[in-house]
This record gives sequence, C-alpha cells and structure tokens, in this order.
Amino acid sequence: MKDHELEFIQLRKVSSLDGSDLFNSLEEKDEFTKTKKPLIPIPTYPPSKPFKNTSWKRLLARGTYFNALIKQRMSGRDYPVIAIIVANNKCNWNCSYCFGDYPNRKDIDYTTDELKYLVDRLHAMGVRYINLHGGETLLRPDIGEISRFIKNKGMYLCIITNGSLLPKKLDEVKDVDNLTISLDGALEGNDRNRGKGTFAITLKAIDLALQANLPLRVSATLTKHTMHDVSFLSELAKEKRFRLYFSLLFKPLKKAQDAQMTNEEIRSVLSEIRKYKALGYPIFTSEPALKAAYEWPYDFNEKHHVEEAEIPQSYRKFHVPCYYGRTKFTIEADGYVYPCFLTTDGSFQPKNWKEVGIEEAVSHVQSKNTCRACPALSQNDHNLLLGMNFRQIAYVIQDQIKETFHLS
Ligand SMILES: C[S@@+](CC[C@H](N)C(=O)[O-])C[C@H]1O[C@@H](n2cnc3c(N)ncnc32)[C@H](O)[C@@H]1O
Ligand code: SF4
Repeated sequence: MKDHELEFIQLRKVSSLDGSDLFNSLEEKDEFTKTKKPLIPIPTYPPSKPFKNTSWKRLLARGTYFNALIKQRMSGRDYPVIAIIVANNKCNWNCSYCFGDYPNRKDIDYTTDELKYLVDRLHAMGVRYINLHGGETLLRPDIGEISRFIKNKGMYLCIITNGSLLPKKLDEVKDVDNLTISLDGALEGNDRNRGKGTFAITLKAIDLALQANLPLRVSATLTKHTMHDVSFLSELAKEKRFRLYFSLLFKPLKKAQDAQMTNEEIRSVLSEIRKYKALGYPIFTSEPALKAAYEWPYDFNEKHHVEEAEIPQSYRKFHVPCYYGRTKFTIEADGYVYPCFLTTDGSFQPKNWKEVGIEEAVSHVQSKNTCRACPALSQNDHNLLLGMNFRQIAYVIQDQIKETFHLS
C-alpha cells in the first residue's frame, strides 16, 4: 500500500470527510457545522403504520425491485435504484479491520425524520432497495420505526448487523426482507478479526434468526486470520442451512495491516470458495464475481481505483461493469454521498445531501466518479444484477424462491 493511501486511511478519524477540501480535522468540521444552518428543511413525519412481512410479500418486494431495475435499464438513463444508507456512526464493537473506524467518529446521527425524509426522496428518485448499514444499525433506538417506514413504501429492505443486539431487538427487525449477520470464520480467526467473545455472540444470533425464520444471510469477511476457515464456514452453512456470502478485506486501517492477505493467498482462498461452491455448499457469492476477482489484473492491495482505459484487454472477458455511482450509491451517516465504500477513503470528493439536496449529491457522484472496476465480491454480485446479467437474474430469482419456500 502506498504512503498516501495510508494517510487517507488514518484521516478516516474525521469520519467520511477525509480528503475533502472542506475539512482537514474534526475540529475544523465541528467549527463548520456549528456555523452552517441546514439548508434542506426536514418535514415532520407521523409514526409509521404497522407492517407485517410474509414470504409472499418478500417475494413481491424483490419483484418490485427487479421491475425498477428493468425500467431503469430500458430508460437508458442512470438514476438510483439501490441505496446503502449508513444509518449511524456508532458501533458497540471495534473490529480490527473495520473501514468505518467508528470509535473515532463523533458526528451526530440522523434524526428519525431526517432518515425518513432521505428514504422518501430516494423513493421518489426510483430507489426500491435499501440496505441499512452502520456502524451497528441495531443501536438506533428507532430501528423498528425506520424499518416500518421503508417497508410501508414497498421497498426491499436489508439490514446488516453484527448480531449482538438481536436478542433484544428481534421484534423490531423481524419484518425485514434480508437480515445479514457478519461472521468471519471459526472461533480463533473470527475473534481475532472482530474481538474476543464475538464468535459465541454471533453464533447465538444466527441460531436466533434461524429459529425465528428470518430471511438470514451470513457474510464472512476473509482476512489472513480467517483465510483457512472457508471449509468451516461452508460446513456450518450447510449444517445450519443459511446462505453464505464472502467478502475480501479491502483497505484495512493501518492497525490491521497484518490482516491483509497476499495476492497468492487471496487467489488460493478464492479457489477454495469456488471448490466448495461447485460441491453444492450454500455459497451465494456468484461464480462470475469469484472469477472476476481471481483474474484481477492488478495487485489487490495496491490499486483500488481503475478507470475504463486502465482495464486491460485480456481482462475484459472477466470484467464486471460497475454500476456503483450510476444506479447504486452509498450515503454516509454525515450526509455525504459516495459511489461505494471503497471510495469513502478520501479518493472521492463527495457532496452532502443535507446541504445541496439528494438530487445534486447523487448527480455529483454520477458526473465525477471515474472508477470502473474492482475485485470486490459483493460489489460485483450486485453489479451483475444491475447490469441485467441473465444468469445472475436467474440465480437471484432461484435464491428468492428458495428463501420464500424455505428450501435451503
Ligand atoms: C461495516 S459493517 C456494518 C454492519 C455491522 N456492524 C456488521 O458488522 O455487520 C458491514 C460489513 O463490512 C465488513 N467490513 C468492515 N470493514 C471491512 C474492510 N476493511 N473490508 C471488507 N469488509 C469490511 C464487516 O465485516 C461487515 O460484514
Ligand atoms: S465491522 Fe461492524 S461490528 Fe465490526 S466495528 Fe465495523 S461496524 Fe462495528
């Protein structure tokens, strides 16, 4: 990793604003925020009506979102269909590699009305899939209210969590369309990545979600400490019957550089995943995304921004065109809008929807983002879908039907 990249990563302590020419330190940002009145007036919303989800309603929500994707592709225009919203700046854990560096974030979180307004505007722009991210999203006291608001608008809702608060908050999140819990590997590696004792807590949350029949996915971030745990995770997924997704560690904070795999280790771990997938284990990371990562033509740890002209001819047959920053956006907890998490490190200069409105913040991303390729597995899974890749659509429909009828 180059020195300037490390610099950016250290600057993450000023939240997602690192690299912005507006702020060089948290103090500078605080000073600015104090003097600046919010430019976007936020309405007051009434409490959301109750919402009870069922397998059929989940199928319908997925159908609505597919329909929106088809409409968007047929329109020939880029507009948002999927949004990842970082719903809060706080986390009750301190995972060694976490790009969010949440203990160092001091920003105030969105109010309930701000979040509802954001969802409202995104819905009006065409968004039909919302992923509530964090920090630890379940720390929000209004998580049930926000979930009901999103579901009452007919959008597909995914929440990703570390699972620690699930025993307390099960009732508030039981009506999501997809609950993703993060577990990185077996006890030793997982706890090295995510903190001592987290393996047992997460396993308990997985069991609880399964007992409650929630549409569960498990997401594993593979690092040097968990790269030998693909077989453990695959066997666990098979035994407990949950859907398993893999991610590769990207741009870890300086303190977690030891978790970074070498290029050879990454390729070996990708081969292992493909082997278990071919054996029929419930691994839902798609083969084209795994292949695109395996064939990645650059150093995984060196180059994170690849423009169109930099995609080598020999890689074109594996390349998954990127729709992040075109139809999918990441909205940080402080209001800044990015193409994706990989660009929240200072490599992209964002605009803030609370200052300029969501339309301008989104169109700023659309006009300024020049990154066109990456080896990130979950990103490319979504890219295949956003690009209307026929096999990926068939794959996701099959997955949804299995989920609806509890077939795996
Ligand atoms: C940022 S967390 C937020 C949600 C929740 N707190 C959790 O842990 O699932 C979402 C996911 O990002 C992953 N993640 C965090 N830092 C990462 C990094 N540097 N590279 C790849 N994935 C990372 C986590 O492992 C987790 O699966
Ligand atoms: S990965 Fe999730 S649980 Fe871990 S520190 Fe980051 S936000 Fe918190």
